[in-house]
Amino acid sequence: MNENHATLCSSPEWAEFLIADVLEPLADRFDLGEHLLELGPGYGASTRWLRERVKRLTAIELDPALAQRLQDEFADTNVAVEVGDCTCVRFADDSFDSVGMFTMLHHLPTAAEQSAALTEGYRLLRPGGVLVGSDSLASPELHGFHEGDSYNPIDPARLLVLLQIIGYDRINLTVDCGLVIFAARKPAGGDGHA
Ligand SMILES: C[S@@+](CC[C@H](N)C(=O)[O-])C[C@H]1O[C@@H](n2cnc3c(N)ncnc32)[C@H](O)[C@@H]1O
Repeated sequence: MNENHATLCSSPEWAEFLIADVLEPLADRFDLGEHLLELGPGYGASTRWLRERVKRLTAIELDPALAQRLQDEFADTNVAVEVGDCTCVRFADDSFDSVGMFTMLHHLPTAAEQSAALTEGYRLLRPGGVLVGSDSLASPELHGFHEGDSYNPIDPARLLVLLQIIGYDRINLTVDCGLVIFAARKPAGGDGHA
């Protein structure tokens, strides 16, 4: 990620925003269960808050330097951080009660990779498990912020269709104040029909 991210995403202001506008509202409505998988934790703003709400949190981060930061911070806690690509995760099917992906879909450079990440989330969730996430909507400001970096904001309408095609049900998607916030369940029956 570019230097703009280092400044913003590691700031207390970013953590406050993420907690108040995204994480608290989602955690109030959706049961995260015991074991949460976080995709793209970055500087850990979401990880720090979420880990207090679940028994175990596993995080997959593409950037080895960011993963190392988090491994150091969360050593001997309920958080395990691995370097990896969220479009192809090593864990078995149905391994997690919940999957979280915050402010990271727009960092996946292609539509195919965004689809693959959402599909991996589905595979990794146990039946009845919940996907929760958020992302910033396209804007000239966001584009400028990502100079020299990946910038592939997801269209909320496409996100809705993708989630549905992959097989998620109980899809909740809110578009407000430049953000899309979403939650969706892997059907309890595992066949698209709970
Ligand atoms: C903007 S940061 C968001 C960090 C954090 N979730 C937050 O909201 O503060 C996006 C993160 O996704 C990571 N990322 C990008 N592509 C990824 C991939 N294919 N697999 C795992 N992580 C990825 C980036 O390295 C970066 O740390």
